[in-house]
Amino acid sequence: MSMKNYVILLAGGIGKRMGSNLPKQFIEVEEKPILVHTAERFQKNPQIEKIVVVCVSEWLEYLRCIVVQYGLTKIQWIIEGGSTGHDSIRNGVFFLKDKINPDDYIIVHDAVRPVLPQKAIDEVIRVAHEKGNAASSIVCHPPIVYTEDFESGITDIDREHVILTASPQAFQYSLAYKCYEQAEFENLHNTTFTSSLLIHCKERVFFAKGTTSNIKITTREDLALFEALLKIPEELLYS
Ligand code: CTP
Repeated sequence: MSMKNYVILLAGGIGKRMGSNLPKQFIEVEEKPILVHTAERFQKNPQIEKIVVVCVSEWLEYLRCIVVQYGLTKIQWIIEGGSTGHDSIRNGVFFLKDKINPDDYIIVHDAVRPVLPQKAIDEVIRVAHEKGNAASSIVCHPPIVYTEDFESGITDIDREHVILTASPQAFQYSLAYKCYEQAEFENLHNTTFTSSLLIHCKERVFFAKGTTSNIKITTREDLALFEALLKIPEELLYS
């Protein structure tokens, strides 16, 4: 029996920093909600089985409508988010308990990271299938300075030993489940990524080649950047 890949798509935030009256994942760019752009990347990938969207509670109904409107047939479940990103992922992980096998894989991704070439999805899946987990990552070119106060610093971080992680991230389901269960036990609710939680749980995190164009839409400037990136053919975004 071959292992299946499921997506946990995160749409449980309200997008405070965007300062818009709707959660940023529902803002329309090129006449489509950002979340739809993102979901279509997974809809299109033959390796993806089904998707669960973790959504802000007031927007569950609206999301059900756009799933139908845009023919997002892989979105099988829509559930409520938690009060932190960590808790939203946990809700997705726990929800899948009786729906998928321990050997299956989950891919956790932010709904607000819509620039996602198919090759980047394939790569995170490939590494996770081989190593048990994978975080999309890029090497870090700019010099990084460690600071305590954001006013000054005296320590340079060695770039030769730094890598930037992002979503998508993929995990064997049993591993992710075990870590979120441990987090519940420790009353831990604020890890940024599942990969951060893995490190907390003393697990080794593996890296999959990501892309610099994988922006997380956070502020208004990012909307313009996303519009520009939409015009670039996907082959040019991942080499
Ligand atoms: N997210 C979530 N549940 C939360 C908080 C965030 O599912 N309780 C999701 C967001 O919807 C987003 C992703 O995690 O897709 C990345 O989070 P971020 O960019 O910080 O989103 P927001 O929390 O919505 O933004 P802000 O911090 O500006 O309020």
